[in-house]
Amino acid sequence: MALSRQQEEEGAWSENFKSHHDSKPRGNEAISLDIAFPDADHVYGIPEHTDNFYLKTTTSGEPYRLYNLDVFEYELDSRMAIYGAIPVLYSHGPKRSAGVFWHNAAETWVDVVNYADGTVVSSLVNLVTGGHQRRVDARFMSEAGVIDVFVFLGDKPADVFRQYTALTGAAPLPPRFSLAYHQSRWNYVDEPDVRAVDDGFDAHDIPADAIWLDIEYTDRKKYFTWDMEKFPHPAEMVANLTAKGRKLIVIIDPHIKREAGYFVHEDATEQGLYVKDKDGKDYEGWCWPGSSSYLDFFNPEVVKYYAERFQFNNFPGTSKDVHIWNDMNEPSVFNGPEITMPKDCRHYKAPQDGQDGIAAFWEHRHVHNEYGLRHISGTHQGMIDRSNGKYRPFILTRSVFAGTQRYAAVWTGDNAAEWGFLQASVPMCISLAVSGISFCGSDVGGFFKYPEAELMTRWYQAGAYQAFFRAHSHIETKRREPWLYDAATTARIRDAVRRRYALLDFWYTLFYEHSIDGLPVMRPLFQEYPKEQETYTIDNEYLLGDKLLVRPVMEAGVTSVKVYLPGKESQTIWYDVDSYHAYPANGYMNVDVNIAKVPVFQRGGSIVPRKERVRRAAALMAHDPYTLVVALDPQAKAEGSLYIDDGETYDYVSNKFIYAKITYEPAVMKYTFVNENASYPTRSWVERVVIAGIKTPPKSAKLSQGGKQIPLQMTLHRGNNVLVIRKPSASMASPWEIHFTY
Ligand code: NOJ
Repeated sequence: MALSRQQEEEGAWSENFKSHHDSKPRGNEAISLDIAFPDADHVYGIPEHTDNFYLKTTTSGEPYRLYNLDVFEYELDSRMAIYGAIPVLYSHGPKRSAGVFWHNAAETWVDVVNYADGTVVSSLVNLVTGGHQRRVDARFMSEAGVIDVFVFLGDKPADVFRQYTALTGAAPLPPRFSLAYHQSRWNYVDEPDVRAVDDGFDAHDIPADAIWLDIEYTDRKKYFTWDMEKFPHPAEMVANLTAKGRKLIVIIDPHIKREAGYFVHEDATEQGLYVKDKDGKDYEGWCWPGSSSYLDFFNPEVVKYYAERFQFNNFPGTSKDVHIWNDMNEPSVFNGPEITMPKDCRHYKAPQDGQDGIAAFWEHRHVHNEYGLRHISGTHQGMIDRSNGKYRPFILTRSVFAGTQRYAAVWTGDNAAEWGFLQASVPMCISLAVSGISFCGSDVGGFFKYPEAELMTRWYQAGAYQAFFRAHSHIETKRREPWLYDAATTARIRDAVRRRYALLDFWYTLFYEHSIDGLPVMRPLFQEYPKEQETYTIDNEYLLGDKLLVRPVMEAGVTSVKVYLPGKESQTIWYDVDSYHAYPANGYMNVDVNIAKVPVFQRGGSIVPRKERVRRAAALMAHDPYTLVVALDPQAKAEGSLYIDDGETYDYVSNKFIYAKITYEPAVMKYTFVNENASYPTRSWVERVVIAGIKTPPKSAKLSQGGKQIPLQMTLHRGNNVLVIRKPSASMASPWEIHFTY
């Protein structure tokens, strides 16, 4: 019997992949676009990959792939797809910067040709044009969708990074605790275990702000339930933590156990809340709970239903101090093609006139990379609603797409306790940061395998200077809480974590500023030094804001590391934060590093707020006094900023915060408010001002605040040109000035 035309076409494009069949009901929908970046030395972006920060020519291999996947033991130095996909690519050269956002959530591949890489194509072009071409070409190819491209143009990288976050959103101000240290493991097995870990931090005088519970806390992987044998008193457990200023973070994955009697499954089945298979039936896959279906977060009804699950009475034991970890949301499907959902599954699509048949739904193919974003936005909604909009949520996600930053922090997934993975954490996080996601970190210590003392120490030291700072480990690895190492290692880990807490308000201020200007918090050197070509390929060091330069030690057994100090042209001075020793920006230099040393430098011309009285959790330090570290530039000037609020509510939206500017010049140091009518009743005060790089010390100093004049005491340390003003006791609740006489 002859097939009709329609029957003939149906299936004509279908494909088999291992034992999987992709019906491809719409046939070939692929789109592609070539883009040339003249005057570019390099291109960057399109995370998430484990390659260098600067992208390499792909002609002799696979293109960079963007397809959110749960890759078991992912490889290093690779362009293969992992958990996240952000289709934004930037170019940069001494003359200009540019960016392209390829707005597409389908599987995408990106080819890159850098004409400076000496490929056949580039050599031919150079032959024809008679010389070295500064140019990079990129080709975006997506399996489906429309060509929807945004182009950003600017003089320098910050211009284009800012345009991207203006388009996709900056991260809102996170709760302050979330910038502190997190302790996780798959799994803390029961309530006594959680108690012991919590107490362990106190016994060993190591601060910590959150203990995490992985999937085993649930009743057989049914989210929004507890394993009542191991966690019979969740509310009490949470209360024990919050009594110390700590939080609990629990995991909620998007797959739902298909079990009769499980309320989420029953509701989802009855109300049609699951993703459908190609024939329109509830799609069934395999994940942690066994047979599972997946909530279809593209449907507003599903989001509403899911968000309601976070109401405190719907999720007993939780409170405003319980926050959420969204994992496996690529989505991960153990028996699916490439461990994810078949592309011909169906998602809800808002009804449109005249659209029926296959036009009436989204195929998973069209929206795959966005599934996790929809998941976390539902969680975000639920967490805001549960407190009637009073408290800020914290969410961690593994799947990533453009815009993820508006809802969640990101970690780099299942790494391993190997030096290479520690090294990869820096380019991975700066690549995410320029792509909107500043709140990034890697599992400290490595997820798989066991980190020996040196690696563990170095990882804590590095993690302390990355935005999201959490130790985590696989269920089958040896326990590794900081005190399980030898005493000297524990002491070094303590020191690393305490370094983080001393800088917590600096981090918090950086995140506030990011929420306003959309610029990366962890930033590549070339963002601040765009004309300095050596910086274009540096991805083992980075800046925090424009103030601190961090070069973590990420190599085994080294006694010195090379550090690049940028800013020669502007005569920048960099101060070692441990010794206040001043180094002129002069490109590369060797820095001696014993096992306790973390090379961090403060830029001359900046002021960094610190809190030196480290306590067991961030909340307990809220009203502690500040040490202001003033690092002078060659003109003996400096400036910085400080953001203060209650750390957890949305009251800042109604101006209940202080955003202060701090300036120093030889005659006067000033603390003034940037936000008009700033009000936050902080009890913090200044206990110390440290001025590094002082050439001409003042004879006297006087504080003036609220109409009072108070003479101040100073000590000069001639060895390193540091002047310390002891106990100026200025309150941070109102503006002040310190006047110097010479
Ligand atoms: C995969 C995550 O990447 C990992 O961090 C987690 O421990 C396991 N899922 C179990 O939930």
